[in-house]
Formats: sequence, C-alpha cells, structure tokens
Amino acid sequence: MAQKKEIADVNGRIGVLTVGLGAVGTTLIAGTHLVRKGVAKPIGSLTQMGTIRLGKRTDDRVPRISDFVSLAKLEQLVFGGWDIFNDNGYEAAKNAAVLSNEHIEAVREDLESLKPMAAVFDREYVKKLDGPNVKKGANRMELGLQLVDDIERFKVENDCNRIIIIWCASTEVYIKEAPVHADVATFEQGMRDNDPSIPPSMVYAWAAMKTGTPFINGAPNLTVDVPWIVDWAGEKKIPISGKDFKTGQTLMKTILAPGFKARLIGLNGWFSTNILGNRDGEVLDDPGSFKTKEESKLSVLDSILQPDKYPDLYGDYCHKVRINYYPPRGDNKEGWDNIDIFGWLGYPMQIKVDFLCRDSILAAPVALDLVLFTDLAQRAGMGGIQEWLSFYFKSPIVAEGLYPEHDLFIQLTKLKNTLRYLMGEELITHLGMEYYGYFDEG
Ligand SMILES: NC(=O)c1ccc[n+]([C@@H]2O[C@H](COP(=O)([O-])OP(=O)(O)OC[C@H]3O[C@@H](n4cnc5c(N)ncnc54)[C@H](O)[C@@H]3O)[C@@H](O)[C@H]2O)c1
Repeated sequence: MAQKKEIADVNGRIGVLTVGLGAVGTTLIAGTHLVRKGVAKPIGSLTQMGTIRLGKRTDDRVPRISDFVSLAKLEQLVFGGWDIFNDNGYEAAKNAAVLSNEHIEAVREDLESLKPMAAVFDREYVKKLDGPNVKKGANRMELGLQLVDDIERFKVENDCNRIIIIWCASTEVYIKEAPVHADVATFEQGMRDNDPSIPPSMVYAWAAMKTGTPFINGAPNLTVDVPWIVDWAGEKKIPISGKDFKTGQTLMKTILAPGFKARLIGLNGWFSTNILGNRDGEVLDDPGSFKTKEESKLSVLDSILQPDKYPDLYGDYCHKVRINYYPPRGDNKEGWDNIDIFGWLGYPMQIKVDFLCRDSILAAPVALDLVLFTDLAQRAGMGGIQEWLSFYFKSPIVAEGLYPEHDLFIQLTKLKNTLRYLMGEELITHLGMEYYGYFDEG
C-alpha cells in the first residue's frame, strides 16, 4: 500500500475572506451559519455529505469524506471580506434576495457583524458598477499593501491560524496575458507604474501571495492563470485555483456532453441562452465582462468532445452562448439549451433543456468545498495550481502544456483519487478483474 502523506494539524481558526459580498458570498456565509445551527442541510457539498469508496467493492468501506481526510469543521471558519458597498452581511444578503427572510433572520446577528473592508476597485474593469467603499492609493502597489494590512489585521483580530481568500466578486472585463504578467519583479514594477493590464483581482491575488494566503478564483477573470503567480504559488507552496465556479448551464453541459461522447452520438449544434436578473447579470450585460464569461463557457465542449479525434461526430458543430439581463428574475435564472444531435446513419434528433436554477444555491456548496479542500491542500504541502479541484470550475487552470479536463465524472474520479493518494489508500481504477479470475495472476 502507498504511503500516507504528511498533513499538518487541522486545528485552529480559519479566516475565510471573500472578495465580494454579493449573491454567492452571502449565500455561502449565511448557509454555513445555518448549517452550523442545524437549521438547514449542506446539500450539494461533497465535504459535508459525500462518501468515498476505499478498497474492493466487496470490502464495504465507504466512509464519509469528512471522516476519511482531516477537514476543518464549519465551526472553525470565521468570515470576513471586501466589497465596494458598505452594506453589512445582513443587508447584503437581503439585497441579494437568494435566501428566504426566515433563513436570513435565523442568522441575522452573524451576518450583521460582518462589515466589508474597503475594496480595491477600478470602474475600467467593471463598467456597470460603482460604490463608495473603495480604497485610495497612488498606485496599485499602495493598494496592494493596504490589502496586506487588511489580511494581517483580520488574522490577529480574529485569532486565526490561517486565512483563505476566495474571489466571489463581479466578473472583470476580458483581458489577455500581457508582458507585465511574466514574472514577479516585472509584475511588481507594473503595480508601481499602474499598468492597465493589472486589474483589481490581480492586486488581491498579489496580496494573497505576499501573505502566504491561498487564493481561489470563482469568476472567469484571468487573475491567477498568468506566469508570475503560478511560479510564486508553486515556489512558496501556496494553493491557487480557478476559474469560474461550475454551476447552472455549464454544469449541465459537463454532465450531458460526456454522455453523448461515451455513446458516440454526434453533435450539430448547441445553443444556450439564459435570463437572469441579479447583479451578476447586470455586470455581464457589459460586453467586456460578457466576453470574459463567454470564453469560460465556450471552452468546455471542445475539450470534452475532442473534435480533432472525432471529426465525423464533432468536427463541425455550432456552439453559441447568450446571457440576457432580465431584472424580474433576480437570482432565479432560467437557462435553455437546444441541442441538435445525430445518431446511427446520421439521423437527426433534438434535446431541449429548460433549467430553472438558482445560481447561488448551486455556487455556495462549491465555494465551501473549495475553501475546505484548499485548506487541506495547504496543510499537505500541495502548493501552486490545484488541478484536482477542476471538478468545481468551468474553466479549470492546469499546468502549462496540459489541456484541462472538463468531464465532470473524470474530474470527480481525479478528486477522490487525490484524497486516496494523500491518505495512502489504493487508487481506484474500476478495472475489477479480480472479481472474475479470467487470468491466473499467480
Ligand atoms: N452565482 C453563480 O452561480 C456563479 C457561478 C459561477 C461564477 N460566478 C461568478 O461569481 C462572481 C460573483 O457572483 P454573484 O452572483 O455573487 O455576483 P454579485 O454581483 O451578487 O456579487 C458580486 C459582489 O462583488 C462586489 N465587487 C465587485 N468588484 C469588487 C472588487 N473589486 N472588490 C470587492 N468587491 C467587489 C460587488 O459590489 C458585488 O457585491 C461573479 O464573477 C460571477 O460571474 C457566479
């Protein structure tokens, strides 16, 4: 049997700082308090409800993941964060209107005590928003140093043993990798020079690295997939992951597409459209922010279907994604998919999906699991890119030269095998020969 990896002690308080106290941020925080109080169940969370099979199918060893690996308990988490608005957690949760009044009132005191720290914000990157709770500084370096102070102060004031930062803020406009992202020294000079290729999200990520804090990117922003931070995080063993929480329509896509591919069903086209009315929808109404989201959503199908390997099935399909801001819907998005497929001898068929989903209800357990697994990764000394957490992202970041794995079921196998690997358990290949004795292995 493989050797169990050394994992540092799980005890101590963990500060979870969310950048952005909007729909996802408040649903994560309020939800965690509700679960802690026993008011509701953590549905959708692998760390809270999932199990893992160990050994042979005949062994009947299927512990809960939380009993198998040392994960922090919800009671250990202390929440804080930044937002461009001054609303405390209670007011922000009310505004987001994801959870019922009954649920919000049940954790009112916990939410009210959460006052957002002033944000690093630049309207050039989120054109549809503006708010009063914003830091001032001569350049991005000064702003970054103020964030470093925030992180250190939060840690001391809340008696935290360690901190994790999770980006739950708005989607920034689309940018490409630029020379300023090449290495740490160039990047830091760029911060002093106020280089426009450094968006606020990268200033937060810099402050995270500076303080040895893991950074999770829940938005499609470029933030952590550029060389300076990948190198720094790898060298200093600080976990980073992203990007864009996998929820809603893309979650459905990564459930359905592997099924078509497995049965070699062809695809002529996949048209996806959404209506949503929350602040995220408003921000995505700006073409720059939508472009960032579109890139993240479009990449999924190609990498699952591998058109180059299956030209007859997937060589020429049309894939379109639309997001329409429609205020009456609030957070209760509706996503339609029209999927044109073809089967035996090329006969066409269609599938229509109408998903009446609640985006932040799907995102909150993802965010919680990411926090707890990231903490595990750091205690296990796994710094840099956390590809094993691809399961949670629309557009997973991977080491240079690799293509991302988008198939939800392969991603889950990868995640669980990582846990088995850390704990020195046999990896599960699903071969199963041993049950049948076809070959004499002796
Ligand atoms: N809701 C989902 O299911 C889901 C799924 C995948 C990804 N995401 C992404 O997660 C992010 C959050 O989504 P949401 O629905 O909570 O949006 P939201 O608009 O409700 O919340 C975002 C919050 O971030 C704040 N903000 C913006 N820029 C900031 C900055 N620079 N610093 C600090 N705060 C800032 C805003 O004021 C707002 O309160 C978005 O980027 C979204 O695309 C959401």
